[in-house]
Amino acid sequence: MFRIPSQVKTSNPDFKNNKEHHKQVEKEYLELSEQIKQGGPKKYVDRHKARGKLTARERIDKLIDPDTPFMEFSTLAAYNMFNNEAPSAGVVTGVGVVHGREVLIISNDATVKGGTYYPSTIKKHVRAQQIALENNLPCVYLVDSGGIFLREQDGTFADEAHFGRIFYNQARLSRYGIPQISSVMGSCTAGGAYVPAMSDETVIVKNQGTIFIGGPPLVKAATGVECTAEELGGGDVHTRISGVSDHLADDDEHALRIVRNIVQNLGPRPKFDIMREAPVDPQYDPDELYGIIPKDIRTPYDVREIIARLVDGSQMHEFKPRYGVELVTGFVRIMGYPVGIVANNGVLFSESAKKGAHFVSLCAKRKIPLLFLQNITGFIVGVDYEHGAIASDGAKMVHAVANADVPRFTLIVGSSHGAGNYAMCGRGYFPRLLWMWPNARISVMGGHQAADVLTQVKQSQLKTMGQEVMTPEEVEEFRRPVLDKYEHEGHPFYASARLWDDGIICLKDTRNILALGIEMSLNKSIPDMEVGIFRM
Ligand code: COA
Repeated sequence: MFRIPSQVKTSNPDFKNNKEHHKQVEKEYLELSEQIKQGGPKKYVDRHKARGKLTARERIDKLIDPDTPFMEFSTLAAYNMFNNEAPSAGVVTGVGVVHGREVLIISNDATVKGGTYYPSTIKKHVRAQQIALENNLPCVYLVDSGGIFLREQDGTFADEAHFGRIFYNQARLSRYGIPQISSVMGSCTAGGAYVPAMSDETVIVKNQGTIFIGGPPLVKAATGVECTAEELGGGDVHTRISGVSDHLADDDEHALRIVRNIVQNLGPRPKFDIMREAPVDPQYDPDELYGIIPKDIRTPYDVREIIARLVDGSQMHEFKPRYGVELVTGFVRIMGYPVGIVANNGVLFSESAKKGAHFVSLCAKRKIPLLFLQNITGFIVGVDYEHGAIASDGAKMVHAVANADVPRFTLIVGSSHGAGNYAMCGRGYFPRLLWMWPNARISVMGGHQAADVLTQVKQSQLKTMGQEVMTPEEVEEFRRPVLDKYEHEGHPFYASARLWDDGIICLKDTRNILALGIEMSLNKSIPDMEVGIFRM
C-alpha cells in the first residue's frame, strides 16, 4: 500500500472558507437532530416519566453494554412531514452491542402520539428489519405503541409495505434463524400484539405493559363485558394465564436486564473472518475534510483527499490509476477492516464504468466489503459516447454492483444524480447501509440541469406551435421555481425525512461509523460471487 499524497494547503483562504461553511452546516444538522431526539411534546415526555417509564432512547442506553456506541438510523425520519408531529417518526432504530453481540433495536417512542405508526414509522421499522435480515442480527423490540396512527390509515394499512409487513417480516426473520425478543413496556394494541406474540421470547412490565387484539372499549362494544386493560391483557394475565409472555418485569430497568440475559443465551454467533488487522489512524487529520470539500457542490476536487482522511495510515493500493480516471478504485483498510473503495472523480465515462465493473467484481470474488463514495452528476452524454456504447458500459457496472454480494456501503459525499446514483450503489441497489454527509444533495439531476432540460422542452414546444420563444427574462422566471424545488427536495434533510438513506452522518464521525457498519455486516457470511450476463 502507498501513502496517498495530499496537495491540501490548510493556510489557503478557500480551505478556511470551506471549513467555516461546513462546520456551520454540520452545526445546523446537529442542533436539529438534538431537538428531534427530545421526542414528543414536553407535556407528553413529562407525563411518560411521571408514569415511571424510561424514554425510548433511555431504554436503549440501558439495554446496550456500557460505554459502547449506538449506531442510530434515520433520526430525521418524518422531519417536516405530518405537521412535524412525529419526531424520528416516533420510533428509534439502530444497532447496539448487548453482551458483546450486535443487535438491531426498535424502540417505540410513546411520547409521539402514543407511539402509534405513521407511514414513515412503518417504513423505518420495516427498513430496520431488512437490516437485521441482511446482516443476520437478532432483533429486540422495545414495545410501547398504540398500533396504527388512525388519521393516516390510507398510508398505513392496506398496501404490501404497510403495517402487516412487520409481522410477515417477523415470521420470515424467524424462519432464517434470526432471534427476536420483545419487551412490552406500554401499550401493544391490535395488530401490534403480534410483535411480542411472534417473538422467540417476550418480557412484559407489571402494571404497565398490555397486549391485546382489541382494547377494553372494543371488548365492551363487541361483547358487553367491562374490564380494565390490566384485566384484559396485563403482565399478570400474560405470564400466568395466557402464556403470551414469558417473563414478568417489575419496571423498565428490570425488563431491560431480562432482555440482556436473553441475548446472553442466544447461543453461538460465528462471525465471518475478513482478516481484520490492528487499526491505524489516518496520517492526515480527518478534521481537514471540512476544508477540503468545496462550498459550491459543483466545484471539482480530488476525492483521494477524502480517502486519505478516512482510511488507515492514509494508504491505498490504487487499482488502474491511469485508466478511467474519473473513478478512483483501490484497496484500503478502515479501522483494520479490508475495504474496496469506489469513488467518483467526475462524471462516468465508458472506461471508468468498465473499470468500476472490473474492480467491483474483484472485491466480490475476494470477499472484500465495498465502500462507494458518491459525488456523481451522472454518465457522460453526447453522440460520440452513445456511438461508443456508453449505455452498455454503464450497464456492466450496474450489473456488477447489483450482483456483488459482499457487504456494500454507500456514502454520499457530494452530488447523487442520474444513473450515476445507480452504478454507485444507490438505495435501489441494497447497500447494507447508506449515509449522506450534511453537505450532500440527491435528486434525479442537478437543479441547473433540470431547469435547462425543461427550458429546452418548453422552447421547442413554443416553436412547434409557431409561438414566440421565451425571452431571457422569461427564461429566468421559468427556471427559478425549478431551481427552488430541486434545492429543497435535494437537501439531505428532505431525503433523510423520507428514509432514502439510513441517516446523515458528520464528517468527523465517518470512520467510526463505517467501522461499526462493517463489523455489523460480518454477522452474515459472504457468499461466493455469482453473476448473470454482462453485455460485452
Ligand atoms: N391513532 C391516532 N392517534 C392516536 C392513536 C391512534 N391509534 N392513539 C393515540 N393517539 C393520539 C391521541 O389522540 C393523542 O393525541 P393528541 O396529543 O393530539 O391529543 C395522543 O396520541 C396521545 O394519546 P393519549 O391517549 O393521551 O396517550 P396515552 O399515553 O395515555 O395512551 C394509547 C396511549 C396508545 C395507549 C392510547 O391512546 C390508546 O389506547 N389509543 C388507541 C389505540 C388503538 O386502539 N389502536 C388501534 C390501532 S389499529
